[in-house]
Amino acid sequence: MAKKKDFFVCISCGSEFSKWFGKCPACDEWDSIAEAEKSQRGLKSKKPEAVPLSTVEEKDLKRIETGLSEFNIVCGGGVVPGSVILIGGEPGIGKSTLAVQIAGNFNTLYVSGEESLIQIRRRADRIGVDIGKIDILTCTDVDEIIDIFASPDSMKEEQRCLIIDSIQTVYLSEIPGIKGSVSQIRESSSRLASMAKRTNTPVIIIGHITKDGTIAGPKLLEHIVDTVLYFEGDFLKDFRILRTFKNRYGSVNEVGLFRMTGSGLKEVKDKNKVFLNSFSSSTAGNAVSAALEGSRTILFEVQSLVTFTGFSNPRRMSDGFDLNRLILLIAVLEKHAGLKLGSFDVFINVSGGFRINETSADLAVAMAIASSLKDKAVPERTGMIGEISLSGEIRPVSQCSRRILEFKNSGFDRILLSEGDKREAEVSGFEGEIIAVKNISEAIDIIY
Ligand code: TYD
Ligand code: MG
Repeated sequence: MAKKKDFFVCISCGSEFSKWFGKCPACDEWDSIAEAEKSQRGLKSKKPEAVPLSTVEEKDLKRIETGLSEFNIVCGGGVVPGSVILIGGEPGIGKSTLAVQIAGNFNTLYVSGEESLIQIRRRADRIGVDIGKIDILTCTDVDEIIDIFASPDSMKEEQRCLIIDSIQTVYLSEIPGIKGSVSQIRESSSRLASMAKRTNTPVIIIGHITKDGTIAGPKLLEHIVDTVLYFEGDFLKDFRILRTFKNRYGSVNEVGLFRMTGSGLKEVKDKNKVFLNSFSSSTAGNAVSAALEGSRTILFEVQSLVTFTGFSNPRRMSDGFDLNRLILLIAVLEKHAGLKLGSFDVFINVSGGFRINETSADLAVAMAIASSLKDKAVPERTGMIGEISLSGEIRPVSQCSRRILEFKNSGFDRILLSEGDKREAEVSGFEGEIIAVKNISEAIDIIY
């Protein structure tokens, strides 16, 4: 049998090499290469055993429902014992707040390498969680954390959970590199993951990530953990979205909606109220559409402002909608609907800090631009769904009936959609007016 060779890792970028270098060939960092420890050496595990797939049953997958139903949704219906959940997000977005709120539902060991005991206590009091069940640990040595958490005594407790806040502040003593380095993050999280599997308890790991993703961290451990959730939002607004990015125990693309208040995160129950400003719908430049976010449908408002430009190159700006897509739609409006936008600045904003990832919003964006240019409002309670092709045609969208149902439930009077979706709309039970259009110029003629 071939002898297993030693290998070297760069503690800055995590690249592995068969020999030592003074300067890392991958990231050009000096003096960052260290010999890797054979950390797994001597760990004798049980003899592996194959089981027939037919004996594995869905009911074996238990889920623990936390008191936060939005969190349960993004986890696929609850926290699975033995699973590792990563909550990533920018500093200050509310990860620790969310973690403390989840902690109150379990017998939790909360490991904090970032804050003092009194800070954590004050936060918990402010939020009003059940602090009787939470133990706090400020030690950051992963092996010691595991020793404490998985000690025979504490293993007797029911419904336990380990929270690491954050992965950038814990370390393994036998691994080279400072806290937060690639090798530390990777090794610490794999060790926590194997502990989770062994003891069948959930582990929640918090990781900081910056907008440009330059700081090593969450991106690196996406493949080690079972579920990756990203916490996003606008710092100026109190609205927060928890997105599922990966989930071995459920569907991705789920979202949880929260609002940051003076007493912690509150779940948003009436989701459409957040994105839909019912007062401004009757002013020019606004149009409403429906987006699918995992298992839910969300209505949102596209706001547009078209003004005469003072520049030789008119400006196009977009918040919540892809800028290239906006430029394309403007070109389509010029060519196929005869709108002269060349001497106008065009600004697009999606209300409530919502971000659109679907082309089904094309029609609403185009109609909002036309509305602002013509200074004519879209009739109130009109929903729009449709993709716009380069030739100006309105195309059908995926799962049209789900979107129509949401318009129906929210009391809309009228839906503007493509010819291709007309049939689906007619059988959906929507009682208002259904306007099917072939192309963008027809849509503009009918509405204005
Ligand atoms: P925090 O959870 O500490 O963020 P992270 O762990 O992601 O860095 O909290 C972020 C912000 O939320 C902080 O600026 C204070 C604010 N906040 C509230 O507005 N209300 C609250 O009840 C709490 C606990 C925090
Ligand atoms: Mg924090």
